[in-house]
Amino acid sequence: MNIEELQQTAAALMEGDKGLLAMDESLPTCNKRFAEAGIPQTEEYRRKYRQLIVTTPNLGECISGAILFDETIYQKTDDDVLFVDVLKQAGIIPGIKVDEGTVAMPRSPSEKITNGLDGLPERLSKYYSLSPRFAKWRAVITIGKGTPTHENIKANTQTLAKYAALCQQANIVPIVEPEVLMDGDHTIETCRHVTEETIKELFNQLKIQGVNLQGLLLKPNMVIAGTDCPVQNSTDEVATATVECLLATVPPEVAGVAFLSGGQEPWEATGHLHAMHVKYEDKLPWPLTFSFARAIQQPALEIWKGRDENVEKAQQMLYFRASMDNLARRGEYSVDLETW
Ligand code: G3H
Repeated sequence: MNIEELQQTAAALMEGDKGLLAMDESLPTCNKRFAEAGIPQTEEYRRKYRQLIVTTPNLGECISGAILFDETIYQKTDDDVLFVDVLKQAGIIPGIKVDEGTVAMPRSPSEKITNGLDGLPERLSKYYSLSPRFAKWRAVITIGKGTPTHENIKANTQTLAKYAALCQQANIVPIVEPEVLMDGDHTIETCRHVTEETIKELFNQLKIQGVNLQGLLLKPNMVIAGTDCPVQNSTDEVATATVECLLATVPPEVAGVAFLSGGQEPWEATGHLHAMHVKYEDKLPWPLTFSFARAIQQPALEIWKGRDENVEKAQQMLYFRASMDNLARRGEYSVDLETW
């Protein structure tokens, strides 16, 4: 394990006003998004879509790292250049999703646990040789009647911590993503309580596994009411609840925090990140940025629709959304800039 290399990679991912682009949808998730947009669900269309993303002009101005799915690591552009090489030429560090998806938890089937530890050391060393320098593992925490259970939080955070330790042994920076889902009618207070319990337990487990926090990134949800909750909170309330929750749970040594968007509208996720920076900029012990998938990609996907003639416009939209997130990280975003 090379601590210096891990810390350098983590610092590069958190550089300036940049953030991460999650383009690591699994086959079922990518196919679902394609089906909704009327795009054929084939390997070739997934290649064309990922080509659109990685060849977006000037993307490296906004994005420091891109999280890929296994299939994408081996794919190439029409000109026969590996996507990972296109990213590196643009100054974007390639990353890789290494979890193998979720399954129902045996004694509490409405909750999920994440698979993927089997054979992980071998996969990590293979990925290192193929370029990725950071990885992602997503655990899902479900708020519902009687959930999450403490057993579920413990099982998921234990696995996240074991994954993180294995990544660091392979000189790959782990992103730990314990996502408290927005599905449900829970209040923002419930989300905060569950998110705090989850992140506290996560850092407890990371300590047990001896994970170096300066070579680790946290990818949390924002603290927000469930999508079916009748009371939806203001931007300031979400920003305040989220940052207060993180300040109470995330040790200052952590290399950075990069949010998932979780199904928020793109401008909401951007607006929340902006509000956090405006209100807390000089109180944050770690860089605070974005690692969005839908909040960057969705508008571009809807423009593309699988058609070659729409590629340029879709790329402009992708760049536009990423640049809005840069402004948010600088605390310079305004909804008036949403002129697209
Ligand atoms: O695992 C989830 C992705 O990394 C983030 O996706 O921004 O659409 O929630 P999202």
